[in-house]
Amino acid sequence: MAVVSFVSAKGSPGATTTAMLSAALWPAPVLLLDADPAGGDVAARWPAAGGGVLDAERGLLPLLTSARRGLSAEQVLAQVQPASGGTPVVCGLGSPEQAQAAERSWPSLAAAVLDVARGASGAGATDVLVDGGRLGAHPVHLPLLRESAAVVLVVRDDVAGVLHARERLRVLAGALRRGDGLLPRVGVVVVGDLQRGDADGSARVLLEVGEWVEDFGRLPLDAAGARVFDGARTARPERTALVRAGRTVVQVVAAAAAGRARSAA
Ligand SMILES: Nc1ncnc2c1ncn2[C@@H]1O[C@H](COP(=O)(O)OP(=O)(O)O)[C@@H](O)[C@H]1O
Ligand SMILES: [Mg+2]
Repeated sequence: MAVVSFVSAKGSPGATTTAMLSAALWPAPVLLLDADPAGGDVAARWPAAGGGVLDAERGLLPLLTSARRGLSAEQVLAQVQPASGGTPVVCGLGSPEQAQAAERSWPSLAAAVLDVARGASGAGATDVLVDGGRLGAHPVHLPLLRESAAVVLVVRDDVAGVLHARERLRVLAGALRRGDGLLPRVGVVVVGDLQRGDADGSARVLLEVGEWVEDFGRLPLDAAGARVFDGARTARPERTALVRAGRTVVQVVAAAAAGRARSAA
């Protein structure tokens, strides 16, 4: 199975929300890895299974700290905790300094995470969804993004959001090219007011960057739905507009991740 990363270009369009939503709805065995180099927030937003909070000390930091001499799939799995609903989660970092200090550990982490996805540990294959946070100029977690079968760029449907996303997409094809000449599937999810905005027009602008940019769908602006992924208790989350639209997006992203990689031009 595969690694799928969720990233943003600038601002806070909803990358974490989309990653959590996707993990909750994923149609196959799944693990959510909070790898936002700016510091993770899944631990604060997703309650632990059985109530209580996830242990933020467990997760990515111990992995990066011990990764200098290589990392195994078993070590990654040892940091997994069940979140409510049963989704297994690897909690993120406490600060951007931790991500930078461990800069040389990210390639080992990426290799171990790929092994987890492939079931190399004997624990069974699983898709690994990565909250990759915002893409800066020199992303420390580029090795992880490169090993992804699909990279999902979450974009807010406003002028600035679309322009910044277009700029990131322009550098992404080169940055994501792997040694084997293949490229992850790259697509956009546009988040906006689907009644009033022009999310389709925004998507078209982004698809013009190159034929390798795919349209992974739309998510509505839905405060009630988003609160579900902000740790709020909601009576019927499955009825929110966000979760309903999320089912379609998840199908499209899962199909892309399971499909053929692209060969970089
Ligand atoms: N589709 C949406 N509709 C309404 N609010 C949203 C939506 N997606 C995210 N939000 C809200 O926007 C804020 C930022 O979302 P978050 O997922 O943390 O973004 P990012 O990871 O890109 O920084 C949060 O308060 C979240 O609840
Ligand atoms: Mg985030």
